[in-house]
Amino acid sequence: MRKTLSQLKKMVQLDEKLVCLTAYDASFAHWIAEAGVDVILVGDSLGMVVQGHATTLPVSLDEMVYHTQMVQRGNHKAWCIADLPFMADATLDSALHAAGRLMKEGGANMVKLEGGQRVLPMVETLSAMGVPVCGHLGLLPQSVEKYGYQVQGKDQTSAERLLEEAAALQTAGAEMLVLECVPSALAAEITANLSIPVIGIGSGKETSGQVLVLHDMLGLTVGKTPKFAQNFLQEGGSIQQALADYVAAVKQGHFPQALHEMA
Ligand code: KIV
Repeated sequence: MRKTLSQLKKMVQLDEKLVCLTAYDASFAHWIAEAGVDVILVGDSLGMVVQGHATTLPVSLDEMVYHTQMVQRGNHKAWCIADLPFMADATLDSALHAAGRLMKEGGANMVKLEGGQRVLPMVETLSAMGVPVCGHLGLLPQSVEKYGYQVQGKDQTSAERLLEEAAALQTAGAEMLVLECVPSALAAEITANLSIPVIGIGSGKETSGQVLVLHDMLGLTVGKTPKFAQNFLQEGGSIQQALADYVAAVKQGHFPQALHEMA
């Protein structure tokens, strides 16, 4: 049985950290779920780590559906989130179409959209239609050409904007939030303000859970690996052990260490 949203929320209420990891195919999804990862994210990071693009922007909806199908064939235990690719949420109609395909054809349990104010109407409508939605604030890889890969929320104005947008996403119906590369104190404040699980990446250890890109935590990323990532394969010696170590490190609060925080 795959984990349900209500089980994940219960775990957070009981102060258990949620472990999330990206996956893009059936074999990895199988071993990731077997290791006890709670949430698998079929991230559009696949554009970079699988397809070899410089950014996530070229990934198509067909490709997201294809990878989500593969992941869900291998995953029988974890909750599965699939990313809406760049521009799939440009209009309400296109967001509904993309979310429908990711759930009906891909078998995703939840869809993720990047952005704050701009995506509130999409979040509200999808949620009203029974689609579980995960928000994504902070560093937004789909907006990298405009803003770059920068820590977000460092000054008071942008920190306040992130606090407001996080609350607005929850009010619009988001059931989970990914916070990427925001200072750890701000991530802690956002997490404390919300009742939905907040999954951090490069945002310190005070969030409800952690997510990493699979290739980063296995030391397989070609080129620059984010400095907040940890190579669990080097430490564990096998992929299965690396996955088990990652799960244990997040559950026990050993990952991320202050050293691995981006802020
Ligand atoms: O696409 C992805 O893998 C993501 C993570 C970086 C959170 O959105």
